[in-house]
Amino acid sequence: MDKKIAVIGGDGIGPEIISQAQRVLEKIASLYGHRFTYEEVEMGGCAVDRYQDPLPGEMLRRCLEADSVLMGAVGGPKWNGLPGDLRPEKGLLRLRGAMKVYSNNRPAKIWPQLAGASPLKEEIVSRGIDLMIVRELTGGLYFGEHTTKQEPEPQAVDVMSYHEYEIERICRIGFETARKRRGRLCSVDKSNVLDTSRLWKKIVHRISEEYPDVELTDMLVDNCAMQLVKDPSQFDVIVTENMFGDILSDEASMITGSIGMIPSSSLGDGTRGLYEPIHGSAPDIAGQDRANPIGTILSAAMMLRYSFNMAKEADAIERAVGAFLDDGYRTEDIMSEGMRQVGCSRCGELILERLE
Ligand code: IPM
Ligand code: MG
Repeated sequence: MDKKIAVIGGDGIGPEIISQAQRVLEKIASLYGHRFTYEEVEMGGCAVDRYQDPLPGEMLRRCLEADSVLMGAVGGPKWNGLPGDLRPEKGLLRLRGAMKVYSNNRPAKIWPQLAGASPLKEEIVSRGIDLMIVRELTGGLYFGEHTTKQEPEPQAVDVMSYHEYEIERICRIGFETARKRRGRLCSVDKSNVLDTSRLWKKIVHRISEEYPDVELTDMLVDNCAMQLVKDPSQFDVIVTENMFGDILSDEASMITGSIGMIPSSSLGDGTRGLYEPIHGSAPDIAGQDRANPIGTILSAAMMLRYSFNMAKEADAIERAVGAFLDDGYRTEDIMSEGMRQVGCSRCGELILERLE
């Protein structure tokens, strides 16, 4: 197959981790007879520096014309003082909005080889951690109106709004995802306080009638934050709105002990997706060959699986990552005693060698 991939290196460690993922894709192309072509896209702080715009029109066009988009990370302290519209993150939000990728899927699964890296007690980890957060990605607070005014007195407002159709489509993804996994869906809201959550809850229960095979539960977001550290084994699929999903997915990744390992997919109604590791741009270690590229490599695997329908190629990448860990190699962030520490590019190379 011929596929055009828009590639966003971004900021901080972004370019380093993306180039390892591209090497892996190239090897897959040669092993399985595909041809991938890449469109470089400048987005984030690097685009602010060069074009005074975190996502120039031409860059957005490249993404919208590609078969899929693979991203490293954006942002960094250098751009923290900029007004909201010029921040690197705004580029990413505009991209998500323009691509209409409303469904962000973030798996949090413990790799058996890394069980010791979880900050949770062994007795909790041994019950298993394998959950998927389905986060609404193009609505809510992130996409409501943002205003800051000075008169008559300093005030800032962010609007949280959800249309029924936005809730409906993401909840359906939640049910479909649960159906393909262990059949349990937990809908997370703040219905004791927010109108948007009360609407959310009503809709998710209405849709659940179409999915009698999926067991639906509700949980308040504060309780969910607590339950995730108390007993994550109780969760299969969590479906929730944008901001809650942002926060809970960082927490869920941390309990697996290795945020650097976690990929994500963002999809809309078509097959074109946006794939990115869930970690940030780690400016403190940028350019030092110290980053863990596995979250990005696994994001590339998700892209093959969900956008290009290349399941065996995706399996091959995941197996190669498993073999890398089995052979005792670790990047710095997941290093433990007795293992062999490698840098970012060596990690990519060792995974390449294990691809078949
Ligand atoms: C994420 C990130 C982004 C978000 C930032 C960079 C805008 O935290 O993908 O989780 O809040 O969605
Ligand atoms: Mg986040």
